[in-house]
Amino acid sequence: AKHPLVLFMPSGKRGRFPVGTNLLEAARELGVYVESVCGGRGICGRCQIDVQEGRFAKHGVTSSADHISAFSAKEQNYASKRDLKPGRRLSCSARIEGDLVIDVPQEGLAQAQVVRKDADRRVIERNPVIQMCYVEVDEPDMHKPLGDLDRLTQALEEDWGFADILVDHHILPKVQSILRAGKWAVTAVIHRDLETSRPSLIALYPGLKNEAYGIACDIGSTTIAMHLTSLLSGAVIASSGASNPQIRFGEDLMSRVSYVMMNPDGREAMTRAVREAIVGLIGKVAAEAGIDHTDIFDAVFVGNPIMHHLFLGIDPTELGGAPFALAVSGAIHCRADDLDLELNTGSRVYLLPCIAGHVGADAAAATLCEGPHRQDEMMLLVDVGTNAEIVLGNRNRVVAASSPTGPAFEGAEISCGQRAAPGAIERVRIDPATLEPRVRVIGIDHWSDEPEFAERAQATKVTGVCGSGIMEVVAEMFLAGVISEDGVVDGSLAARSPRIVQNGRTWSYVLWDGDARLAITQNDIRAIQLAKAALYAGTKLLMEKQETDHVDCIRLAGAFGSLIDPKHAMILGLIPDCDLDRVAAVGNAAGTGARMALLNRDYRREIEQTVRRIEKIETALEPKFQDHFVHAMALPNKVDPFDKLGG
Ligand code: FES
Repeated sequence: AKHPLVLFMPSGKRGRFPVGTNLLEAARELGVYVESVCGGRGICGRCQIDVQEGRFAKHGVTSSADHISAFSAKEQNYASKRDLKPGRRLSCSARIEGDLVIDVPQEGLAQAQVVRKDADRRVIERNPVIQMCYVEVDEPDMHKPLGDLDRLTQALEEDWGFADILVDHHILPKVQSILRAGKWAVTAVIHRDLETSRPSLIALYPGLKNEAYGIACDIGSTTIAMHLTSLLSGAVIASSGASNPQIRFGEDLMSRVSYVMMNPDGREAMTRAVREAIVGLIGKVAAEAGIDHTDIFDAVFVGNPIMHHLFLGIDPTELGGAPFALAVSGAIHCRADDLDLELNTGSRVYLLPCIAGHVGADAAAATLCEGPHRQDEMMLLVDVGTNAEIVLGNRNRVVAASSPTGPAFEGAEISCGQRAAPGAIERVRIDPATLEPRVRVIGIDHWSDEPEFAERAQATKVTGVCGSGIMEVVAEMFLAGVISEDGVVDGSLAARSPRIVQNGRTWSYVLWDGDARLAITQNDIRAIQLAKAALYAGTKLLMEKQETDHVDCIRLAGAFGSLIDPKHAMILGLIPDCDLDRVAAVGNAAGTGARMALLNRDYRREIEQTVRRIEKIETALEPKFQDHFVHAMALPNKVDPFDKLGG
């Protein structure tokens, strides 16, 4: 007769195993990652699984709790000391007795946007680079003069299969006392980045240590965002953000590069500032989660090339002008101590590779998260900031570029622009008949024609318009006929509406007239046209490289991407024509990508390989960029039909 069939969910990996096979071993054999700290001794509880019950016709399996060995003494013992949720089993002590469908709990990325209805449904599995390995070490024996450390590494090889372990020097002076304190039972923290690299012993604890954490951090030029994650369960246990203190040296990236060029200590000061902010955030997330920061063993960072270089202590001057040479483009592996991060002495750091001098590790992380390289459809991935980073491609080919959009999309260079903060108008609708606007304001969180608005506006004054608000107001002005296709405000409407006012030789639209008077000027509209034309021209260039006249789906990443309404982005011609329901704001895709790299070393390899084959296009060197740019100034633009906008 056939051996029982065991199917592991959510990965769907399956195999047949003889009755009596240990379930943890079966998982290992199939390459299904199930955590284990104690090596199957029934004390860590990390190997828990659920048995699904019922008939799974698609797979031809009937799974039942009766198809698994009865509760063992080890499980009883574990359940008596800690809580084991009903239905949960310790896979290390359960044996296969019939067909089974096993659920491996995935706390990690279940809540992330990685798996969406139109995205590929690839399952995110964990396979962290950090492994906690409990071992029992032989006591010293005068007849076998092998050192304590050597007996430890021997045990690690016997129990965990780690050959050729490298040992961090800082462990040597402590190894004897730790072994004795643990009565010859210790937990080794092993770092193993790639299949091919030698494992390293990076920390050692007496007894069972059943905790290990990692951080994923996105260093933006404006804000730094950090997630603290359990490396053993994959769950995010605390998140925090702070503004990047480098802002005091320069608002945007180029002004920070010039600061370095003009001040002898500039690079050092900015490196120190960002590292201090990161150390502060580490303290904050650790405190929030109630953990010790020395239990953080791994950290993944992403950022644009200038942030990446400054964080590593590299002078970014070369990135300030053509040919925009990166000091290093490949992934970085180093120690937290090298970067003064004040984690565990043995903690490791990983930075994703940079794609090009203008397209950084953040774009690589967003690519890893959204996965254009994993699918057949042509995906456009745009991260809008001071520079728009654009990635376009599919399984066959991926191209990338950055476009100099300038800061208009973030509300800078706009007369009434401001950061997205309480008091900023973020949404706008204009009635085409009366030209009267309705607005929604951050911190008031009601539309201006709702009764609650007036009351709440007492506390939160309207002070400006943020990036998404600017985009919406310009798009709405276009839809209401206030501006022409060329972006010119129609002064003749002044006769119809008091909102249209003269401003020197041009006209403005008064969006808000309260404590502050906020008018959208002709110059503001020009700034938005320039920014959107730059973005569109970059996209167009990449579409030409791909020899495609359409994209199948669009992902708008970053804070701005999640605020803009896809419809308005298309009305402005910011993004190419595409079915609106295939346009999705994906939030901090770079942060999610960093978390993926933290939780699974296979993702590190995947993005390193992908980045190597991404073709980099330098917009500044492409003669056609200027042409595209000029044509894209009009609304939506003069070259491409926008069919999907019809309805
Ligand atoms: Fe530790 Fe199963 S592996 S309890």
